[in-house]
Amino acid sequence: MNGPDASASEPDLEVAGLHVLYGGIAAVKGVSFSVARGEIVALIGANGAGKTSVLKALVGLVPAARGSVRLFGRDATGIPTHRRTALGATLVPEGRAIFAGMTVRENLELGAFLKRDPVTLGQRLERVLALVPRLGERLAQAGGTLSGGEQQMLAIGRALMGEPRLLLLDEPSLGLAPKLVAQIFGSIVEIAKTGLTILLVEQNTRLALETAHRAHVLVTGEIVLSGRCSELRDDPRIKAAYLGEAL
Ligand SMILES: Nc1ncnc2c1ncn2[C@@H]1O[C@H](COP(=O)(O)OP(=O)(O)OP(=O)(O)O)[C@@H](O)[C@H]1O
Ligand SMILES: [Mg+2]
Repeated sequence: MNGPDASASEPDLEVAGLHVLYGGIAAVKGVSFSVARGEIVALIGANGAGKTSVLKALVGLVPAARGSVRLFGRDATGIPTHRRTALGATLVPEGRAIFAGMTVRENLELGAFLKRDPVTLGQRLERVLALVPRLGERLAQAGGTLSGGEQQMLAIGRALMGEPRLLLLDEPSLGLAPKLVAQIFGSIVEIAKTGLTILLVEQNTRLALETAHRAHVLVTGEIVLSGRCSELRDDPRIKAAYLGEAL
């Protein structure tokens, strides 16, 4: 699996000097950070700060105008999205993008399409359903008839079916009631315990700082503050700017 240049001591994700431009306007301006194997790192910030743009650039859905992206010890800066997925980096996008007319089972199976091994499809499904049990009760139901929270769980479950090593989650709590948010974040913590590396984008700062190990604060395309979540939770700048308005 690992190429000769890959090293276990390198972080699963390493971003250096990343810039993203839209028609000449910079949405991401020189962002650098890394995520070690098995770590949960959160990227927090207000609407329009550039969080989604960073995630998209990491999987190649928008180009990096400058800077580099290393995945699992390899330079992945210019390679197409499907090759980054094959390396093990999977994005669960904002807005979920599940297939409404397909059943939950079909949606999940689609997530495994890059892994053409029918022998293990059932085993993989079993593993994913153990992590996101709510889906197991609804395998035959059309994706479009799931509740918002269940659709979010399905999007995460579908990503897990591809057996990623690095999961990029864009606002998993968006638009969900507190009870469902708690369930989804419970699943995220369980998933992380299986050794998966997670980059979590969240506008809900409190939730992100409770879930992740480390966090970076993004303001208009730049990281202005970084640290361990246990310390950031007590940081007066975070309290004033984010925790007061986040809930
Ligand atoms: N395709 C695009 N074309 C032009 N501008 C864009 C495009 N996508 C994003 N932007 C702009 O780039 C900036 C960063 O957007 P981005 O979606 O990365 O922010 P975000 O931090 O994810 O915000 P939110 O919390 O609202 O999801 C915003 O000003 C946005 O309007
Ligand atoms: Mg976004």
